[in-house]
Amino acid sequence: MNKEGIIIAVDGFSACGKSTLAKQLALALGYTYIDTGAMYRAVTYFFLREQLDWNDEKSVQEALTSIQIDFRREEDGSLHTYLNGEDVEKYIRTMEVSESVSPVATISAVRRFLVKQQQALGEKKSCILDGRDIGTIVFPKAGLKIFLTADPEERARRRLKELLEKGQSVSLAEVAKNLTERDHIDSTREDSPLRQAEDAVIIDNTVLSPEEQLAMIKTLAEMRGA
Ligand code: DC
Repeated sequence: MNKEGIIIAVDGFSACGKSTLAKQLALALGYTYIDTGAMYRAVTYFFLREQLDWNDEKSVQEALTSIQIDFRREEDGSLHTYLNGEDVEKYIRTMEVSESVSPVATISAVRRFLVKQQQALGEKKSCILDGRDIGTIVFPKAGLKIFLTADPEERARRRLKELLEKGQSVSLAEVAKNLTERDHIDSTREDSPLRQAEDAVIIDNTVLSPEEQLAMIKTLAEMRGA
């Protein structure tokens, strides 16, 4: 068994339950969880707040030099995203950020900036990263690659439930439209589009409970040396 542990890459479409799985798996294996989507969301939130024109390359380059992102564990055990030392967890999950994050994630300078940080965070192994390009670009040699999918209607229902629980007022139609648009932009962009790595294990979790899914993937991870 590899004492260092392995890198586990979890990729897939929006709202497939990647973060739920990655968080539970990290807890079960004693691994570090890295939410790469939160990093793209934090950059997007910064751009929106600064009213930055992200079509202007120079402004983007300049802005990136003043962005520092990290994750900190809160007293209740949850992991929050910090932007320049400020807890922005609540702000990065809004529909406003969700509507701009995919266009921002098409910008190569943004991707280079974040991929470098993700690779540094994962250097120590024993970590799980979820996103869109983890198994293909960030860690092409990951010990285990999972590609999650689920029925689009089921995904929209799950995401709506999450947002309503957080007190956001949004309709199922709005959520479904956002997911469709993001999936389209994420999988058709030029720079590192969302796609399944050839050696990824594909799991459709439409009718799987989180517990069933976790048990299955934990076994797989252990077989690969986690
Ligand atoms: O996982 P999420 O829904 O929070 O991700 C938000 C957006 O960030 C997603 O629509 C595309 C982008 N993203 C990306 O391009 N690459 C990643 N590794 C993670 C997220």
